[in-house]
Amino acid sequence: MTEPTFPRAAGHSRFHESARAQVAGRAHYVDDIAEVRGTLHAAPVCSPVAHGILRKLDASAALALPGVRAVIDASDVPGDTTLAAFGHDEPVFALDTVQFVGQVVALVVADDVMTARRAARLVKLDIEPLPAVLSVHEAHALEHYVLPEVHVKRGDAKAALKRAPHTIEGHFEVGGQEHFYLEGQIAYVLPLEQQQWWIYSSTQHPGEVQHWVGHALGIASHAVTVECRRMGGGFGGKETQAGHLAVWAAVAANKLQCPVKLRLDRDDDFLITGKRHPFAYHYRAGFDATGLLSGLELEMLANCGFSADLSGPVADRAVFHADNAYFLEDVAIASYRCKTNTQSHTAFRGFGGPQGVIVIERILSDIASVLNLDPFDVRLRNLYGIEERNVTHYQMKVEDNILEPMLSQLALSSGYRERREQIAEWNTRSPVIKRGLALTPVKFGISFTATLFNQAGALVHVYTDGSVMVNHGGTEMGQGLNTKVAQIVADELGVPFERVMSTAADTSKIPNASATAASAGTDLNGRAAQFAARHVRDNLAAFVAGLDGVGAGAVRFQNGQVLTEVTTRRFEDVVGAAYANRIQLWSDGFYRTPKIHYDKTTLTGRPFYYFAYGAACSEVAIDTLTGESRLLKVDILHDVGRSINPAIDIGQIEGGFVQGMGWLTTEQLVWNDKGLLSTHAPSTYKIPATGDVPAHFRVDLWPEPNREDNVYGSKAVGEPPFMLAISVFEALRDAVAQAGGDPHLMNAPATAEEVLAAIG
Ligand code: MTE
Ligand code: MOS
Repeated sequence: MTEPTFPRAAGHSRFHESARAQVAGRAHYVDDIAEVRGTLHAAPVCSPVAHGILRKLDASAALALPGVRAVIDASDVPGDTTLAAFGHDEPVFALDTVQFVGQVVALVVADDVMTARRAARLVKLDIEPLPAVLSVHEAHALEHYVLPEVHVKRGDAKAALKRAPHTIEGHFEVGGQEHFYLEGQIAYVLPLEQQQWWIYSSTQHPGEVQHWVGHALGIASHAVTVECRRMGGGFGGKETQAGHLAVWAAVAANKLQCPVKLRLDRDDDFLITGKRHPFAYHYRAGFDATGLLSGLELEMLANCGFSADLSGPVADRAVFHADNAYFLEDVAIASYRCKTNTQSHTAFRGFGGPQGVIVIERILSDIASVLNLDPFDVRLRNLYGIEERNVTHYQMKVEDNILEPMLSQLALSSGYRERREQIAEWNTRSPVIKRGLALTPVKFGISFTATLFNQAGALVHVYTDGSVMVNHGGTEMGQGLNTKVAQIVADELGVPFERVMSTAADTSKIPNASATAASAGTDLNGRAAQFAARHVRDNLAAFVAGLDGVGAGAVRFQNGQVLTEVTTRRFEDVVGAAYANRIQLWSDGFYRTPKIHYDKTTLTGRPFYYFAYGAACSEVAIDTLTGESRLLKVDILHDVGRSINPAIDIGQIEGGFVQGMGWLTTEQLVWNDKGLLSTHAPSTYKIPATGDVPAHFRVDLWPEPNREDNVYGSKAVGEPPFMLAISVFEALRDAVAQAGGDPHLMNAPATAEEVLAAIG
């Protein structure tokens, strides 16, 4: 056997398949696609009122502007005027009421985008205001919910609290988050012949866009094709929200029988689209002198906005992750899905998980402060066990627990114990600047909790020159899915990575694909593509086995060659010969995640195939005069199983962490008393910048493969690292305590104002 002349594609760091094109500005996003002759441009007309009766729409001034072609509203929707959204509770365009500031009432279509936007401001809306519910607490008091409440219980929390030697009680609030994808929401809709449609959409879920457009136009799914080569970021914000834009543009394109492009201005994107759900909590926790939790009552209020969207599964995931890494023995969780007159909040990296994890981390820190213990020791004390204390509150056994060795290793490598002493000492000498430290774990469940979504398909085509094309149901949003899938296919066929090309997600190639979400993109599509490639390889192996008179199992594919004991042939020669012998050179592949099941009504079962783990140790400094803060140092140890592409995985860990830090520090959404989101541009909404990334930012990967049979022994990485940033929030609370302030007062995000107020 000859030595490999190139390494296997998977397991090695490789450039993102589009990296060079992206940095050169040559990668196409929807707005880069050459426009078809006659393309018109649209702009939304938004409600300026949070809740009211829509009496009249006067478009005369807008229509009088030169270049304006039409004003489109609900009366132009040929199919169902209600979107085919999860809850069937959102109109395509506002019907007789408006429900939040920013709700789209109509669309202006013009020859160019600036004319459309100018004209949109000239449309006069006559709205009779109604009382608006703007706070989650008010919604809860009025029992305004988008979906019924959910209760998950184990044991007897009340009795445990009564017995507990110590108890604490508290309130906590955590803010929402704007996705701030670099490429804003966009759809470009082209009418084809015979009532067929081609749609370019920046979407995580082309199949849903297809379904929604068909539903709104009153046509079958097969008449609508949706294509997405890549997104300039999605982060959950293009899981459902992309569908709205495509439907609006399609209704306009249908009325005018012209191609229509709808690209939102950044301010409109902020005002119209849903964000991460803000949450409010009330909790009572019982514990003993060692910090061991013995009872927990937790009430979670999710601010869902005006409609259900994905709020049910998001709030469910918050319930599933309220344990994070810890065994909750006697526990009662109540989850309320509150309806407010704001944007309809939606998926955002972690999908409710972060809102579950943060509250238990806060509770454990508070217990430590009551007992005067190190919060890290209280965390260790409560970790899931291996043989016992290993079943979650939703009755899933934690079989792959690596928490204890992982936390011990990070505590050592980050020097947590020594630094805790050094920081306390440093703080005594520093009157204005105070430092804080925290080490927190993450345990994140991988799989869609809706079991049916855990399926995927792929196509692998081998052309007669030996080049390979792979297509799958997933979408590329910068996370490197296409790169990993191409690596897997290259190894399956034993060809160099460069020989495999990924193409745009396209509903006419892979039907009924799930959203690229829940971090499961590679788990699902990577396996489906692996199977597709394997089918082609099996065809080629049988062909070569016949030529050489050996068993098909003895044919190997590596280094761009096909080898038997008898011969070595170039892959492309085998392909050419196989073609001439009428052997099928392409195939499909299909994968469904094994073992998972779960009962929606009781929220019990095995919703997750496995868990991804991680831990972070963050050190921060606060300025006690201004409340400003900075992350000084972070050490991360994260579990991606056996990495398919370490460079991409580390990039996901770094990006997720920084995005999480933004959520918990500077990104603050402020709605005014009229329900207007007043932070609707980068001038007033502050995401982390490169200067916020600490010089010491160390990421190590846990060395073990996934214990479950997942593609190449890897684990999902897209969302779990987001929650590592909770260490930053807890370190800030530690710094506030060390400054003599009261960290119990602190809500998230820990803006300068919040820190200063807690210092007092
Ligand atoms: N990384 C980049 N660069 N851009 C993104 O939009 N989205 C995140 C994560 N990482 C995102 C990202 C979210 S919310 C999810 S669910 C996963 O990527 C989805 O992709 P995956 O399943 O292929 O990991
Ligand atoms: Mo990610 S929030 O599951 O799109």
